[in-house]
Amino acid sequence: MAKPKPVQKARPLRILMAGGEALPFASSGGLGDVLGSLPAALKARLGDGVDVRVVMPLYGQVKPEWREKMTFIRAITVNLSWRQQYCGIFTLEKDGVTWYFIDNEFYFKRPTLYGCLDDGERFAFFSLAVLELMREVEFYPDVLHAHDWQSALSVIYLKRRYAQDPRYAGIRAVYTIHNIEYQGRYGFHILGDVFGLGEEERSVLEYDGDINLTKGAIVCCDRLTTVSRRYAEELRDAYFAHGLEHVTNRYAYKSTGIVNGIDTGYYNPAADPDICAAFDVDHLAGKAACKADLQQSLGLEVSPDTPMVAMITRLVAHKGLDLVRHVIDELLERRMQFVLLGTGEKEYEDFFRGLAARHPGKVAVVIDFNKPLSKRIYAGADLFLMPSKSEPCGLAQMIACRYGTLPIVRETGGLFDTIVPANPVTAEGNGVTFVTYNAHDMKDAVERSLGYYSDRTLWAQLVRNAMTADFSWNASAGNYESLYRDLL
Ligand code: GLC
Repeated sequence: MAKPKPVQKARPLRILMAGGEALPFASSGGLGDVLGSLPAALKARLGDGVDVRVVMPLYGQVKPEWREKMTFIRAITVNLSWRQQYCGIFTLEKDGVTWYFIDNEFYFKRPTLYGCLDDGERFAFFSLAVLELMREVEFYPDVLHAHDWQSALSVIYLKRRYAQDPRYAGIRAVYTIHNIEYQGRYGFHILGDVFGLGEEERSVLEYDGDINLTKGAIVCCDRLTTVSRRYAEELRDAYFAHGLEHVTNRYAYKSTGIVNGIDTGYYNPAADPDICAAFDVDHLAGKAACKADLQQSLGLEVSPDTPMVAMITRLVAHKGLDLVRHVIDELLERRMQFVLLGTGEKEYEDFFRGLAARHPGKVAVVIDFNKPLSKRIYAGADLFLMPSKSEPCGLAQMIACRYGTLPIVRETGGLFDTIVPANPVTAEGNGVTFVTYNAHDMKDAVERSLGYYSDRTLWAQLVRNAMTADFSWNASAGNYESLYRDLL
């Protein structure tokens, strides 16, 4: 009798993600949230069926409490054209995910994560280190999943240089655009002198008179994704594509949109150490306490029934701040309070500081990037304004919903995908929306929201809809899984 064949356990799916920031280690925006939560969501979904690892720079900003948990693997030399640079590799495990940190203080001990004159060199170093790391730790993934321009070169190096080595040849590359506005554009000299790539690669990276990392990654990747379905469509349109529409159209056949989720454990009003009182959809007394606490600490009139409209945002133009600037004084003639938290371009910082000075007790402005305070605002406010000109996904509208704060959004990108406009007749919907990028359309949406707020029954239902909408990673992690499997 033939022996029964031993049951072959399916080999786990091997994924290596690379990106410029991830929570809780270092972050400056939404990418940090996504890279900080998607890997663990994949692990939670697939268990032993996945080996997911992430690599990011070891910035000076990474706190000692995390450094203490890291193990030093080894130091190698990364050759960036004629430069020979020290590269330390550190690792730690968290929630079933293996994290790698690329150390080089010259490149990564800076006051900010990005925005330095030598960003091209810093992230070329990082991207090359991603590929060298595979050899050092002997982890050749099925899929290299790179996020945004900071790791775009890892896709390009993989396909144009490393794929000749059989160990790298089978690796598929997924490239995700979180925001096409930031492309990584440099002069031609950078190709050879910094990236160490030959003239024959110029046509891959060249675009519109520059060396363009996003363009190169779009050309080289096996699959291109972006962070919502609507943004995937919008990216083919010159209005949204920041000059890359010819490329996004040409490669549309390999592109898809997968909307982000949020970490519903971290953003959980029922168990959030940063807010003063816990609450959930059936027990909203804590939300009222959070509102009073916020009003008091920000120097606003403590008034439970005055609707509070909040914004938490980077102060940059595409967030729709010009619309706000145009009509906010008119809006403030109504009974409402306005709270803004964020940092960014000086002209907006100055405008909002001035606004607070003109409306004491009614407007509070905090120019800062402050996670704990952001959660107190999500919890304490009633309405959350996001009038973005473009918004690839947007996480804040989902976080606001989770904390029972109704989003007012423009119908673009992920705002369109995640927010269902309120219908005052049927009491369906989880937010208030407007379509055209126009200040008075936004003003109208805010005024409609204030109207809904004053109807207690309608308002209670809309808050309930918002708080019970499912923004967990569950569905999206499944979509990424299918995408990876499709590639193999
Ligand atoms: C970028 C986008 C934002 C998105 C985030 C995470 O910050 O601007 O819309 O939510 O990336 O994908």
